[in-house]
Amino acid sequence: MTDDFMPLLGWDSIELWVGNAKQAAYFYEHAMGFTRTAYAGPETGVRDRASYVLEQGDIRFVVTSAVRSDHEITRHVARHGDGVRDIALTVPDAAEAYEQATKRGARGVAEPQRVEDEFGSIETSAIATYGDTIHTFVNRADYAGPYKPGYVSVSSNGNRRGGVGLLNVDHVVGNVELGRMNEWVDFYERVFGMTNIIHFGDDQIQTEYSALMSKVMSDGGGKIKFPINEPAEGKRKSQIDEYLEFYEGPGAQHIALASSDIVGSVEAMKARGFVFLDTPDTYYEDAQVRVGEIEEDYAVLQRHKILVDRDEDGYLLQIFTKTAQDRPTVFFEVIERHGATTFGEGNFKALFEAIEREQALRGNL
Ligand code: FE2
Repeated sequence: MTDDFMPLLGWDSIELWVGNAKQAAYFYEHAMGFTRTAYAGPETGVRDRASYVLEQGDIRFVVTSAVRSDHEITRHVARHGDGVRDIALTVPDAAEAYEQATKRGARGVAEPQRVEDEFGSIETSAIATYGDTIHTFVNRADYAGPYKPGYVSVSSNGNRRGGVGLLNVDHVVGNVELGRMNEWVDFYERVFGMTNIIHFGDDQIQTEYSALMSKVMSDGGGKIKFPINEPAEGKRKSQIDEYLEFYEGPGAQHIALASSDIVGSVEAMKARGFVFLDTPDTYYEDAQVRVGEIEEDYAVLQRHKILVDRDEDGYLLQIFTKTAQDRPTVFFEVIERHGATTFGEGNFKALFEAIEREQALRGNL
């Protein structure tokens, strides 16, 4: 892109607003292999909330809960359940990013501000995206402290087992209402200068009962990828409809985390109690024919129910977790790419069938 008005340096952090951040932090540490690195809360002079920063590879999650009922975070959690509040992006200039975004029609949520402490200064601003989700722009070039001013460094005294091999955020998927996918595709084109790299319609992604439409938005560098889903008409309620009903609106559906050893990562997460979606054994007979030769042993993938797909650039391995809270909303994906630049479209049917078995168990199909 010749005129990149919105240069993005990478994923800064993903903040989840949750009912009980102390326990959520423990879950991400112990079940997913994150290391607790920083904390802000009543003990550090932040009176209204507690935030735990969790890191693994280049991934940074923040889990936050409020300590009072009359609070924006508490209301968010009451409405949506535990969910993704902020998909924060690292930028070279947070004031410029805000100026460019709002000029192009984005709704500002936090005006640019620079906060400093003994470790330097950090500049942030924020805009709204789908639902109650926001994008914070973060310029941390002049900051050497733990996460942000106001946070203190903490050692991960709970997690003695180390990580599970998760390296970086691959993509974050948003679910929006029926008929609104293209509005959000336009938003990411207009506000971020992103381009639609992949789209598929309900003829390509449907099972007997449900369907979805999806378009993938990507920045020029290909680092930041935002697939946007909307439900499509099916015989029964689609998984996107179920999400929208239980999240009470649009929001982030799943966070995909990259591994260079998905088998090892999945084994480690399973050993720690993380539960993944099941896939029928017959999927693997078909998968071998569909995808052909790969470095991994299909029997090992089958044992772990890891999905496999191929595009013109290579292949990928992926697996989806069950939802991470009681509401059937946010879940995670582990992905290992071998050249493939797509998102496992060939797996959608297999995935849908797996998700629908879960949906039927909850009585929501
Ligand atoms: Fe995904």
